[in-house]
Amino acid sequence: MKSRYAEVTAEVVEALGQIVGRDGVSTQRDEVEKYACDEMPMPKPHPAEVVVKPRDASSVARVLGFANDRRIPVTPRGSGTGVCGGCVPVYGGILLSLERMNAVLEVDEANLVATVEPGVTLGQLYDEVGKHGLYYPLYPGESTASIGGNVATNAGGMNAVKHGVTRHRVLGLDAVLASGRTISVGGKFVKSSSGYDLTQLLVGSEGTLAVITRVMLRLSTPPGRREVLLVPFSSLDNAIEAVPDIMRQGVTPTGIEFMEQDIISIVEQYLDWEMPLHGYEAFLMIILEGETEEETCAAAARIEEACVRNGAVGSYVPASEGAKRRLLEARERFYPAVKRLGPLELADVVVPRSSIPDFVKGARRLCSQLGLPVLAYGHAGDGNVHLHFMQKDMDRKEWQERLPKVLDSVYRLGWSLGGLVSGEHGLGFDKKGYLAMTADGEVMELMRAIKRAFDPNNILNPGKVLDLE
Ligand code: LAC
Ligand code: ZN
Repeated sequence: MKSRYAEVTAEVVEALGQIVGRDGVSTQRDEVEKYACDEMPMPKPHPAEVVVKPRDASSVARVLGFANDRRIPVTPRGSGTGVCGGCVPVYGGILLSLERMNAVLEVDEANLVATVEPGVTLGQLYDEVGKHGLYYPLYPGESTASIGGNVATNAGGMNAVKHGVTRHRVLGLDAVLASGRTISVGGKFVKSSSGYDLTQLLVGSEGTLAVITRVMLRLSTPPGRREVLLVPFSSLDNAIEAVPDIMRQGVTPTGIEFMEQDIISIVEQYLDWEMPLHGYEAFLMIILEGETEEETCAAAARIEEACVRNGAVGSYVPASEGAKRRLLEARERFYPAVKRLGPLELADVVVPRSSIPDFVKGARRLCSQLGLPVLAYGHAGDGNVHLHFMQKDMDRKEWQERLPKVLDSVYRLGWSLGGLVSGEHGLGFDKKGYLAMTADGEVMELMRAIKRAFDPNNILNPGKVLDLE
């Protein structure tokens, strides 16, 4: 497979240096290795042959035109905080790091739109729009993540129940095609009925169709008030069964997360901190935003009532900003806390909200049949379940034998419940097989045709999302 691509020779490195400047090109081992993994636990790194760091869109265009002529694969990369290997080069070639394209170009207060380069981090965006009294409401949980990466994976996160996911905030894009030509799609407006929506096609395409060089993001005004409710239940079933009732209360929570005792103990150890109401079997963590204290407290009371009707034993509402922050931070830290416990595989299946209990129970059953430890938590309001399949004390070979059997069955179970492989992490190279396994053949063929139309030589992030043959 690799042989269909050309090698990165000294002459190629020289030409790339002429495009982006010599300080933006490196074949040094330590530099190349820095970009060989992401946050997914990987048995082995996948180094590129050369790391290229353009400073502007016209350099991206020239790099892609050159790579396309030479048949050199190009893997675009933001901050590398993904969890499916999406930004990791599996065929060597060029690692195109967008980290130096990190300017917030404009915050348009009249239209509530921020225009940014792809290397801008979420943290940077929050700060910059905050200076204008504005708010970017998505909260995928990792503020060092880049906007380009968020767009590439259609990142979701904790605030999606109210504010949607990245695609709901992307109004327009500039992107460079594999040919080196640039397109501008969408714009500073919230409506469009003007032909195929290429903006939305590029969102979530994981760098396989084009390289995004500019993003227009829809902003909001910040809420006057934010509350976090921690609601304990005696079982996960009760907790999840409360969600449809919560959603019918006439107030849309910003986020509804679910978690159980096992994951809470892990994060408590990680943070050396004890969760309030520690000891209950399952919890919902509900994030609410409102304009006034009165409005937000009234909404919290209605939601608490709905929870109690569904078996909750009351709720904890932190009084101070610090205590709210700590609760949210504990939730954000689940993945790093679990990751340090050793090898794991992370699933990100999305199912209809009401099917979460069936999905989690079914997945647990499959895991226990094969003796595989599993942890479940996720975004209850969005039907998005994260499962961590752990190796723990199991022999590595044994784990590697059991894992694919469980994964196959778990993805089929998600599909049978009306779900899909990934809710928010994307597919990268890790999960593309499960898309192919569960998607309709016609749909897969159409996706391949789209890929070929954008990138006939398959130089853009090859080996990700889908295989052409
Ligand atoms: C989370 C990441 C793993 O929800 O998506 O914590
Ligand atoms: Zn998540």
